[in-house]
Amino acid sequence: MNIALGCDHGAYGLKEEAKLLLAELGHDVTDVGCHSLESVNYPDYANAVCDKITDGTSQRGILICGTGIGMSMAANRHKNIRAALCHELFTAEMSREHNDANVLCMGARVIGPGLALQMVRIWLATEFGAGRHQTRIEMFS
Ligand code: RB5
Repeated sequence: MNIALGCDHGAYGLKEEAKLLLAELGHDVTDVGCHSLESVNYPDYANAVCDKITDGTSQRGILICGTGIGMSMAANRHKNIRAALCHELFTAEMSREHNDANVLCMGARVIGPGLALQMVRIWLATEFGAGRHQTRIEMFS
């Protein structure tokens, strides 16, 4: 699938590592930036990733900033986006199975790259459970 990938300066290194992993897993990556350690504003990148999902370019998105908080707040302002801020494996998996999260947010200053990349693997591999979970999603969509 095509995955939109965005970060701010606090997560540039992890974003580059995630990009390598996604390619290794056979995904197409739409990298909306940022592309250096220069200070930027995370909402620009959250909006860019969400726009790629909304216009159909990408099926999923991954957003990384220092804490993941700003990215998740900004992404969840978009109507069709269900962004999940996760910092461990269980919630990364459940965000897919129960919540059909289409954006994964992480904090590069919170967790290390080993855990973050394993979360990406699990998040991409987990299917949505549908059924009662679909009903609940429709209640806030
Ligand atoms: C940038 O310094 C920092 O505020 C940002 O990466 C993020 O943590 C915001 O939620």
